[in-house]
Amino acid sequence: MSDTSSQTLDNLLAEDRTFPPSAEFAAQANLQAEAYERAAADPDAFWAEQANRLSWSTPFSTVLDWSDAPHAKWFADGKLNVAYNCVDRHVEAGNGETVAIHWEGEPGDTRTITYAQLQVEVAKTANALSSLGLQAGDRVAIYLPMIPEAIFSMLACARLGLAHSVVFAGFSAEALRSRIGDAQARLVITADGQYRRGTAVPLKNAVDEAVAADDSPVENVLVVRRTGLDIAWTGKDLWWDELVDGQGEQHTPEAFDAEQPLFILYTSGTTGKPKGILHTSGGYLTQAAYTHWAVFDYKPGDVYWCTADIGWVTGHSYIVYGPLANGATEVIYEGTPNSPHEGRHWEIINKYGVSIYYTAPTLIRTFMKWGADIPAKYDLGSLRVLGSVGEPINPEAWMWYRLHVGHDRCPIVDTWWQTETGAIMISPLPGVTASKPGSAMTPLPGISATIVNDEGVPVGKGEGGYLVVDRPWPSMLRTIFGDDERYRDTYWSRFASHGYYFAGDGAKYDSDGALWLLGRVDDVMNVSGHRISTTEVESALVSHESVAEAAVVGAADEMTGQGIVAFVILRGATDSADTEALVETLKKHVAKEIGPIAKPKRILVVPELPKTRSGKIMRRLLRDIAENRAVGDATTLQDSNVLNLISSGLSGGK
Ligand code: WT7
Repeated sequence: MSDTSSQTLDNLLAEDRTFPPSAEFAAQANLQAEAYERAAADPDAFWAEQANRLSWSTPFSTVLDWSDAPHAKWFADGKLNVAYNCVDRHVEAGNGETVAIHWEGEPGDTRTITYAQLQVEVAKTANALSSLGLQAGDRVAIYLPMIPEAIFSMLACARLGLAHSVVFAGFSAEALRSRIGDAQARLVITADGQYRRGTAVPLKNAVDEAVAADDSPVENVLVVRRTGLDIAWTGKDLWWDELVDGQGEQHTPEAFDAEQPLFILYTSGTTGKPKGILHTSGGYLTQAAYTHWAVFDYKPGDVYWCTADIGWVTGHSYIVYGPLANGATEVIYEGTPNSPHEGRHWEIINKYGVSIYYTAPTLIRTFMKWGADIPAKYDLGSLRVLGSVGEPINPEAWMWYRLHVGHDRCPIVDTWWQTETGAIMISPLPGVTASKPGSAMTPLPGISATIVNDEGVPVGKGEGGYLVVDRPWPSMLRTIFGDDERYRDTYWSRFASHGYYFAGDGAKYDSDGALWLLGRVDDVMNVSGHRISTTEVESALVSHESVAEAAVVGAADEMTGQGIVAFVILRGATDSADTEALVETLKKHVAKEIGPIAKPKRILVVPELPKTRSGKIMRRLLRDIAENRAVGDATTLQDSNVLNLISSGLSGGK
């Protein structure tokens, strides 16, 4: 564990405030304390019960098949259609007039979509995709802003047994190109442009660049008209309104095996190449629906809002699949939280009567910076459950959220999970748990996770180590698309003899046995809840002609959790005026190569990098420098003078 996490930990473990649910909330909660024991006593029976939230065309007779470990099959002989479960069955149950989506565009345009209307939109989109010759098993890339067509597209893919690969619309053309190539996507769905902080910005141009090569697998690009920006047009392009709007409004869903691939979602690993996390249908939908119901205490009549983007797994599980499987009414907001003003979220909560609000610590800290007087101007009385996800939430932010958003009344659920886990794994239950500010508390009923030491031995209260999951769970990733060896290596080799899933996070139990997450233990950074690999940023830097070598670390940052700090060695000499300009150029270069979220906060030009005798960069020492700390143990350095060289050269770079 790094020095920073143990320091933070000491502060955290001094945290002894607890916030039990009110008696009133506890009494009405969906999931009660008895579930923990019941699930532990017979996990298969528990998960079978959860799977029966869904409508199966062919009921399953087996629950978990782990005979081919680490490849799980859940509910393997059952058949279902995921889109039918998220849409049609609610219409058939007489809830067609229930609002599925209150959509709020950034410029202030809105759209209200009932389940009956959603059924029509998904059917038309599915018919359109079929008309392009796409068939079950094919892959479709979705590169869209937060507009209703993104949801229609995902559900249409699910309906047809196509695996979608949603690529965050903030990623670069190059990031899109490599994801398209890895998944061999036949179609890209995009928009002419997107609204960002009040202006329309181009989007489709990135797709043009990404599919331009002769060997691109993409046959067609389907373009939603969102901004009206002028765009270039190629022979592959089709307008959404021309292809989809005229399609038939009926579409009969086909039942697929529970293990039919549902989506691939790319996430950063410890190498430069993102991993295509593969999720399948029955188990994934079961856990997404169960957790949305249990963790948020979702009930008919609630208005639910998850502020994530569909480009991340949170958007997949808690904007699309979980809430819609439960027939929920939800808010989807296209834009940034300060467009056109810093009260936009509170205004939206008030406008739609949002009762469940799920967001990220980085945003909560931003709200704190903007000031408590802003939410105070709005009536937030409709809220009853608040959620947090993406990174450890610091106790100060937790308390601010509790007091200024939840008015000391709403339970907060700090939900730990990952792209790989598909759905929430560790979280308080809002009607059961006496939560501590900053702790994810306990694995959910049905989930078995523990903290182990280097040898894989479980640690006790007051001790820390690595977070592992020691029993398969329904929404677990099935493999890394096209690279099963990397799947085994990354998640299953670290504690192979124990058969544990290695999450890559450090964690600790406090003296009461509550679980605290401490951040990644690998070379993955967490910037505003987004996972970015140090190697990926390093590769982007060295792809620039003026960089000879680069080392990147995540340094503690008050706002974003971690901030990206890069140390670069330049090719040839530059004077200091040139260096300043070059640093700016390099920041822009990284933003262009990967996307603005990967843009380094600081780039320090150095003459050398600290390396071990075997040539491994000692990032720990660089992190000390980046966090302005005394440099730790440097005895394994190949050249002990390197640190002096770096420090003496830093004056200009800060
Ligand atoms: C990594 C997963 C899960 C959706 C968003 C991120 C960190 C996530 C928490 C939390 C502490 C958290 C972990 C994890 N993380 N939630 N509540 N407390 N850390 O998904 O991009 O796959 O990142 O985010 O480090 O491994 P992701």
